Amino acid sequence: MADSQSRLDAVRRALESRGQLHALNWWPELSSKQRDRLLAELESVPWTFLDRAINDVVKNRPAKPTMDDLSPATVLPARPTSPEIKARCAEAKAVGADQIAKGKVAAFTVAGGQGTRLGVDGPKGCVVVTPIVSKSLFQLFAEMVLAARRKYQALIPWYIMTNVENHTQTVSFFDDHKYFGLPREDIMFFPQGMLPAFDFHGQLILAEKDHLSLAPDGHGGSLKALRVSGAIADMRRRSVDTVSYFQVDNPLVHPFDPLFIGLHVQSRSEMSTKVAKKADDLEKVGNVCKRGDRVAVVEYTEFPEALAKAKNVDGSRRFDAANLAIHLFDVDFVDRISSQAALPFRRAEKVVPYVDDHGVAVKPSNPNAIKLETFVFDALPLAERPLLLEVDRGEEFSPVKNATGVDSLESSKRDQVLRACRWLEVAGVSVPRNADGSPNATVSIGPFFALDSEDVRNRADRIPPISRGAEVVLE
Ligand code: UD1
Repeated sequence: MADSQSRLDAVRRALESRGQLHALNWWPELSSKQRDRLLAELESVPWTFLDRAINDVVKNRPAKPTMDDLSPATVLPARPTSPEIKARCAEAKAVGADQIAKGKVAAFTVAGGQGTRLGVDGPKGCVVVTPIVSKSLFQLFAEMVLAARRKYQALIPWYIMTNVENHTQTVSFFDDHKYFGLPREDIMFFPQGMLPAFDFHGQLILAEKDHLSLAPDGHGGSLKALRVSGAIADMRRRSVDTVSYFQVDNPLVHPFDPLFIGLHVQSRSEMSTKVAKKADDLEKVGNVCKRGDRVAVVEYTEFPEALAKAKNVDGSRRFDAANLAIHLFDVDFVDRISSQAALPFRRAEKVVPYVDDHGVAVKPSNPNAIKLETFVFDALPLAERPLLLEVDRGEEFSPVKNATGVDSLESSKRDQVLRACRWLEVAGVSVPRNADGSPNATVSIGPFFALDSEDVRNRADRIPPISRGAEVVLE
């Protein structure tokens, strides 16, 4: 390990060559503890990733991308009708199941977000989301991993990306719950990277004399974090080929979907994505489409309203593929793109407190800084042979994002019950229903009982008759 003088020299050179020496303005008066902190922060600035972005994205406002070259993407339908696609899906499902059984698939949860909209304090994964039995998102996902390990008799590692602020709390939560029965050595936690904030002239901002203003680098940072944390190396050791990526907010996710995995592997896709039909024209989701000849996601905030509302001749929505933030990544692809500044930096203007040239703490009232982040779906245009699979929204997507209304705890619990009731009916179990068609019973199906509707069918003999108004838990 280099001594502190040579570390400081290296940092000084990096700063000087970029006109950023002001970050060391207060160095002479800092205590040795403060110096350690600042030095470590300055060493962690990924300059090689940032040099271009400071010019192109911070000092200059990047031109808005054209929307003229967008067209709908080709998506495999949720319910295949043609015999060819049906046969392809049956074959793919067997391939996917085999991949899981051979330990080729790892789960990856991004849990670095702040949960601000939901108004929770602490990691979002600790929020209780299931009906009747109170399970947190983390418990639910842990049970999915454990149930898949049992079902496929497979070793399935689980990687969880946190952020610096919620990391310790996340790990303690798992520790307190004995990792929900999973072997400790098969779960790896790591915090996502941080990026410094810059002023409008591209200068680093000191939040305190010994501390840079830093912010999480976005979920696009998860690909780099997989590399930096050693997770990719761990996957290589385990011969994992496919990373099943999902956000911490979606209790309906199906991370071990043999069909999706099989299609991904068979088509040699580097990145695959699940989509669903949009709930309405202006739904707050990313739009999966084609930009030129590449697949790309355009966030609802950037998607022109005219395109969002455009219809085909039969009246259906022209752009109708919502990004569910459920992806499969080929490990080689993650390895490749995470070693370069491959994902474009997004610019956000923010109000950031700072210490001025006289050492005085300032709290500005207007945006004074640029924060940079990358989005994981910006990897799609870089992927070869990307595959898009449409799924039924009610089967796989009901995120918990807001305190009330759309995508809230309430709507997600309702959708979990609706799905459980559908699974029962598919298995031939009758569910009492109200006049408007809603179930007149509350049903909760845990991952150990079933990971999908097929599992329910196989266990139909263990399901008691469902009476009106009953609360039924199948675990
Ligand atoms: C996201 C997608 C949107 C998609 C929708 C589906 C973006 C910008 N948009 O919207 O296209 O249709 O999900 O639910 O992502 N996270 C981190 N670290 C970060 C930032 C986020 O781990 O630095 C994680 C969060 O914990 C969360 C997820 O990424 O699990 C989503 O982030 P969020 O910013 O809330 O995006 P959404 O608005 O939900």
